[in-house]
Amino acid sequence: TGTTMPGVAPALAGDIGEVLVSADEIARRIGTLAARVDADYAGRELLLVGVLKGAVMVMADLSRALRTPVTMEFMAVSSYGSATSSSGVVRILKDLDRSIEGRDVLVVEDIIDSGLTLSWLLKNLRSRQPASLEVLALFRKPEAITVDIDVRYVGFDIPSAFVVGFGLDYGEHYRTLPFVGTLTPEAIARGPRV
Ligand code: XMP
Ligand code: MG
Repeated sequence: TGTTMPGVAPALAGDIGEVLVSADEIARRIGTLAARVDADYAGRELLLVGVLKGAVMVMADLSRALRTPVTMEFMAVSSYGSATSSSGVVRILKDLDRSIEGRDVLVVEDIIDSGLTLSWLLKNLRSRQPASLEVLALFRKPEAITVDIDVRYVGFDIPSAFVVGFGLDYGEHYRTLPFVGTLTPEAIARGPRV
């Protein structure tokens, strides 16, 4: 990885170890998932619930690729745990602005790792009695497959390494990378650039 990458601030380019999923691959996959969502929800209106902040890029691209009429809501949750792993204890930082009762809800997630955050979130949202509740996650790590949560739409199954880009951060940086990749050991050791 050199120090110049299209769409990447030179200061960040040297921190990328390996590009796991390119911008083109992400765009194509979101298009494919959008077509599936359109087919599944034909004739209905969808409420997309994005989980801040990581899902903003997926939300922006998915919502514009859909033909289904959509409205958007956002929720912010924090899972107590270290910077790179979650504990399953979740706190709502920002709740939905309106009721989802009777709505067809699609939760839009960046990445599912242990699945603990999502399983808490689904239980919470289900208690608000939506007409339906499904999940779209752009990335999924191996551990998530072993957890008993039903994710209807998955973009990519990736290795369990910590990744950044396309919404995903390390210490709030790297979200704007157009691709998803790993960090170099040096960048990880340097710690989050807060
Ligand atoms: P769990 O383990 O509860 O975690 O499924 C899901 C949340 O943890 C964050 N996460 C990551 N963030 N790179 C990141 O930037 C990663 O590789 C990564 N793995 C998990 C993310 O916020 C996700 O919603
Ligand atoms: Mg994060």
